[in-house]
Amino acid sequence: MAKEPVRVLVTGAAGQIGYALVPMIARGVMLGADQPVILHMLDIPPAAEALNGVKMELVDAAFPLLKGVVATTDVVEACAGVNIAVMVGGFPRKEGMERKDVMSKNVAIYKSQASALEKYAAANCKVLVVANPANTNALILKEFAPSISEKNITCLTRLDHNRALGQISERLNVPVSDVKNVIIWGNHSSTQYPDVNHATVKTLAGDKPVRELVNDDAWLDAEFITTVQQRGAAIIKARKLSSALSAASSACDHIRDWVLGTPEGTWVSMGVYSDGSYNVPAGLVYSFPVTCCNGEWTIVQGLAINEFSRKKLDATAEELSEEKALAYSCLS
Ligand code: NAD
Ligand code: LMR
Repeated sequence: MAKEPVRVLVTGAAGQIGYALVPMIARGVMLGADQPVILHMLDIPPAAEALNGVKMELVDAAFPLLKGVVATTDVVEACAGVNIAVMVGGFPRKEGMERKDVMSKNVAIYKSQASALEKYAAANCKVLVVANPANTNALILKEFAPSISEKNITCLTRLDHNRALGQISERLNVPVSDVKNVIIWGNHSSTQYPDVNHATVKTLAGDKPVRELVNDDAWLDAEFITTVQQRGAAIIKARKLSSALSAASSACDHIRDWVLGTPEGTWVSMGVYSDGSYNVPAGLVYSFPVTCCNGEWTIVQGLAINEFSRKKLDATAEELSEEKALAYSCLS
């Protein structure tokens, strides 16, 4: 029997990530090749015409899984009955703007969209925040949507996770699908900590530690980390635009693994509400290694954290605490 369609909201759908993301969702990349979807696309009035153009293209592409498209600038209509919400919309930093100015615009957006999701989304709606500052936007959304379970509000660090897999794959000249269990700890920013201490590569002789195969701790502890931390900036420098296809693809990976589960023995990185695991302050949205099963994520426990890693976990937590304080100061 055919499955009921799932309603997927994409905010900022007329933007660059939106343009890459909506066809992926309509093709089944996010929820599977047998899962019909209804797309809800939200943008702001100045982008309404462009948004309508995206809707026209979705119709023209005749995606078999796509059972409907709502394209709107009305947040209530956009949120009505959605099962999954991918929050890409936000205010970009413009010339001459301070970090606090951008933060204040975005926390206001996430506060008001939190209320709309709380009131109008389907029960148990899963939320993924992509727009920067992603962790702190997700935290604001969580705080202003108290009836949505904290388990259902996450932010995207899967792009950073995939970037780390990509770097190891290139360095070792192995297929990226043979590399697993890297970790992104902390903020989706340049303080994030890409950690390979538990990562492995599939070989004919079984899974081998990345550290053993790379055999160059100096590279792993310095250049590898900064390359992943700075990759977003490197893409902006090269494209004059921020990453879009990789961000959209990683957003699909995030939701797919959350809904359909992670493979046995594999974890992924997700920005989730900290419960104090690994001595990360509770009450921050922080990227952890997680496994997913039956639509729920669980933080992987018991990984050894050496002194080098500890400092990096703490530094990115510190930045998130500062962002949280800044966000609250913008709201008051
Ligand atoms: P973009 O500027 O091309 O698109 C953003 C869209 O959001 C625009 O169409 C804009 O009109 C819309 N928008 C603005 N305010 C809105 C609101 N209140 N409601 C709904 N829509 C609104 O930007 P982009 O390149 O698509 O990037 C989107 C966001 O994702 C940025 O914040 C970017 O920094 C972030 N990003 C995050 C990651 C990640 O890994 N977490 C990766 C790449 C980009
Ligand atoms: C990215 O990681 O590509 C985005 O968050 C853009 C940025 O500012 O780094």
